[in-house]
Amino acid sequence: MKPFDVYPLYDIKPVRAEGSYLYDEKGQKYTDLYGGHAVISVGHSHPHYVRRITEQLNNIAFYSNSVLNDLQTELAHKLGKLSNYEDYSLFLCNSGAEANENAIKLASFHNKRKKIIAFQRSFHGRTEAAVTITDNPAIISPANQRENVVFLPLNDLEAFEKEIRKGDICAVVVEGIQGWSGIYEPTAEFLQSAQKLCSEYGTVLILDEIQSGYGRTGKFFAHQFANIRPDIITVAKGMANGFPIGGVLISPVFEAVKGSLGTTFGGNHLACAAALAVLEIIEKENLLKEVERKGRDLIAKLRNLEGVKEVRGRGLMLGIELPFSSKTIRENLLFEDHIFVGSAHQANTIRLLPALNVPQEALDDFVEKLNRCLHK
Ligand SMILES: Cc1ncc(COP(=O)(O)O)c(C=O)c1O
Repeated sequence: MKPFDVYPLYDIKPVRAEGSYLYDEKGQKYTDLYGGHAVISVGHSHPHYVRRITEQLNNIAFYSNSVLNDLQTELAHKLGKLSNYEDYSLFLCNSGAEANENAIKLASFHNKRKKIIAFQRSFHGRTEAAVTITDNPAIISPANQRENVVFLPLNDLEAFEKEIRKGDICAVVVEGIQGWSGIYEPTAEFLQSAQKLCSEYGTVLILDEIQSGYGRTGKFFAHQFANIRPDIITVAKGMANGFPIGGVLISPVFEAVKGSLGTTFGGNHLACAAALAVLEIIEKENLLKEVERKGRDLIAKLRNLEGVKEVRGRGLMLGIELPFSSKTIRENLLFEDHIFVGSAHQANTIRLLPALNVPQEALDDFVEKLNRCLHK
């Protein structure tokens, strides 16, 4: 047997990683400003993260959700405290797509409706419900096709109002900042109006913070810049720094019905320990403040570069749009300067999603190398 060949691969084999750096089998060092699709939040192999997981592994790694697990309670408590959602409940699963599946299921159980509003250029995952609200026909199989999803342009309040006033919308799903599309933000006015209209029409507002959450923007969640409180928030990616986990934060309005949601692996002991380690590091190292400061500095430096058309995003979740396809520049950065950055659906955009504790010198070095690449 061999791996199913669905991933375009770079000819690079990392065998070790530390902080914001990867090392291949020949000892070549790479700077990681992408975190393997926005996953590495507190740096590779952070000593506290390694210790916490190792200790847990030596005690108990897994038992099912049919027994008491204090780590889940501890994780829910800590996540509530750090994100300022102490009155919400937490359902744990294993990935971002799964978090969105459960969020939609919960919304539909709640108001008994079927129709979903999603947004153009959205990405919410590859499983059944998550992929049908993803605006990419290439990854929707015939078996996944559904009639009950409406894609609207992001920030088009008129179109939104027209659709929601029909009164049959189960849920609105929106990313805190659209990631895959190339870092596009819902405006504060749009989110505030969406929240108001959702509550008026009995529609559930779901904020997908899977990529934009966990501190990347300098606030715990990107939607907190708009001062809204969604009914449901989904998280994954940076939540456990690479250990697979997803979560659904659920407002007190929803009633927990035994057996309505469930998973075998979700919320297992090891996953909770990894997720707790991330929150402990974010808190102890005051990383949100650091993201805000480094992000502000980086955005200013990037905007100063000749050849950069636009810089979008907040904190350390940034899209750098060039006047041409970013492919050659990204390849130069990776193969000549040994810096990982990300691509985006918007082909001219370079996506940056470094760890929240990325060293300042790694960012400065990137700005210098990007400038050189742009003027070769
Ligand atoms: C905003 C958003 N939602 C959901 C997902 C799906 O997450 P996962 O790949 O863990 O299923 C992603 C993944 O890129 C994402 O960026």
